[in-house]
Parts: sequence; C-alpha cells; structure tokens
Amino acid sequence: MVATNSGEFDRAKELKAFDETKAGVKGLVDSGITEIPRIFHIQPGTLADRKPPLPLAIPTIDLEGAFKDEFSRKNVVEDVRNAAEKWGFFQVINHGVPLSVLEEMKDGVRRFHEEDLEAKKRYFSRDYTNRLGYNSNFDLYSSPSANWRDTLSCYIAPDPPKPEDMPDSCRDVMMEYSKHVMNLGNLLFELLSEALGLNPETLKDMDCAKGLFVLSHYYPPCPQPDLTLGTSKHTDSSFITVLLQDHIGGLQVSHQDCWVDVPPVPGALVVNFGDFLQLLTNDKFISAEHRVLANRAGPRISVACFFSTGVLPNPRVYGPIKELLSEENPPKYRDMTITEYTSKYISKGLDGTSQLRHFRI
Ligand code: OGA
Ligand code: NI
Repeated sequence: MVATNSGEFDRAKELKAFDETKAGVKGLVDSGITEIPRIFHIQPGTLADRKPPLPLAIPTIDLEGAFKDEFSRKNVVEDVRNAAEKWGFFQVINHGVPLSVLEEMKDGVRRFHEEDLEAKKRYFSRDYTNRLGYNSNFDLYSSPSANWRDTLSCYIAPDPPKPEDMPDSCRDVMMEYSKHVMNLGNLLFELLSEALGLNPETLKDMDCAKGLFVLSHYYPPCPQPDLTLGTSKHTDSSFITVLLQDHIGGLQVSHQDCWVDVPPVPGALVVNFGDFLQLLTNDKFISAEHRVLANRAGPRISVACFFSTGVLPNPRVYGPIKELLSEENPPKYRDMTITEYTSKYISKGLDGTSQLRHFRI
C-alpha cells in the first residue's frame, strides 16, 4: 500500500480531492496535465509481471452455425468447449447484434462521457444499490492504485431504470444494445450448457441470464501510460461477460503465466467467463484474469455487459452444479448468493487477488 509518505503525499486526501471534482480522469486530461497524479501510480514492475507474451491469439468463434442445422450447431458447441477449456476468453462473430447497433452504442458512451461536466455530475454516485451511476474507479478508496478510467454503470435486467432516470445521450441505444446482448447471452448459455454435456436449458433455468449489469467505460488518453493501468488485473463477478471494445486496444488476458493481447476485431464481441461460472462448473470453465493497459492514443471506449444481478436483492443460492460432481470431482466451493459475492467483490476492489478463493472449501 502506498501510504502517507513523509508528509509529502497524503493519498487519502488526494483521493478525496480527485473524487470531489466528480470530473473523473477525463477532467484531469481536460485540465491539461502532462504528469499523472501519484494516486494512479502502479507498483514498479506491474506491467512486466509475466513472462514475455506468447505468439498466441484467443479463439474467434463463428456463431452462424448455431442458428442452422443440428450438425453445424454441434460444431459450434465443440468450438465453445475448446475455447472454454483452454482460455475462458474468446471473440464471437456473426453473433446476431447488428453492426450499426455496435457502432451506435460506442457513440452513445462517448457522448455521455464527453458531455458537459454539469450534465454528467447529475449521475455521479458511489451508492452501488442505485440502478444507474457514473464515477471514476468504483474501488477508488480500496484499491492500491487508481485506474485511468471513468465508468457509467447501469442495471438493465431484470428491471431497467426508469427512462427519465437515464441520460439522454445514450438511453435509447443502451436499451437497444442490451436487448441484443440478452439474446446473445441466452444463446451462449445454451451453447455452454451443451458444452458441459448438460441439457441446453440448464444454465438459463438457473437464471444465469436473468440479470444484466452494463459498464460503459471511457479510458481517456494517458500522458504517462507506463506508470498506470486502464484497469488493474482482475476476474469478473459475473456468469459471463460480453465485451464490446473499440479500435484502440490494450485489453490483455492472462494465459499460461503470460499476458496475451485481445486485439480489436471490427464487428466482433469478446466473451469471457466470470467467477460464478467457474464456481458452477467446479473449475471446469475458468474465469481468466485480464487487465487493460493505459495508452496515449485514447480515448478508448468499451462496454462490458456482466450477466449478473450484482448487488440487487436475489435470494437464489448458487454452488457447483450437482450433475457435474462425482466422487472424483467433489465440490470445490461452498454455496453463495450473487448479492453476497458482489458486495464483497466491490468492497475489496481490484487489488489483484481473487474473491473466489474465499468461497473455496
Ligand atoms: C471489465 C473489463 C475490459 C475493457 O469491465 O471488467 O475487464 O476492455 N473491461 O474495458
Ligand atoms: Ni473484466
């Protein structure tokens, strides 16, 4: 922890001062800074904390076959199983979300973040039980270093916010995009159920597709990208996450102790598994660590759709799926609720450790 340093650097005070501007990282960049404040500094060595990158690419899966005959669908399930077992991270094409909606969604997010500060401030919140809120670094006060990123967060399912509570800049497209992502999620949960050798409806019947939490990120250009990160390494508190990223790049996934770039592919969506799927599958499908580098070329825009009810009240209890367990494969996790898990995840913040390990038996 970078604590108060001989009186020169009062971290708590600087965090508070930054937070109170409500202008986020974008506000710092707009003010013309050429050096980033200390609260954003990562520990030396963080960027090079893995072996040199492998010349590997995460798989790209063409989902077209899933909408066709049984044989084509089986091939897609096979692709999903391979990607799931090896990576926990893949890109999908022919996913059913129109290209125009992908473009409009990125435009909407950019409009929101680039709006006048006074308009954005109305939405500023650190109360995560609100359906919608904008801030910089959900874990500003708990993480070891702040990230170069601002975020608008919104629970869309099971119940969206009232239309009048959503920003004009992105309300319509957020509803439209989410509708498509929910359809894609339903398909992915069917394919994943099949890849696990289960009835296609299993994961949907367990309400994995019930909640959708949409994080609309804005990573402003960074004057010193080697001193900070866009997003610290973490795994997602979701069943799965569907990620839309623009052309800038910087997303990396941890694979065999290396960081592997997840390059922008026009029209594609990234799918990654979250902690809840790892728990349900008793470690068969792993929630891979990932992070986002800061860069000078920004702003970078991305939209992470978490299939999760997050901190919203949800009494349903989850544990490893019984049909996947046996004497040789006993449960590795205790039961939990999504609400319990997510509350702990939020208060811990992205500190580089896994929340899932606290649920290990
Ligand atoms: C996330 C995340 C990646 C990105 O929101 O959990 O990993 O590219 N986002 O913004
Ligand atoms: Ni993530």
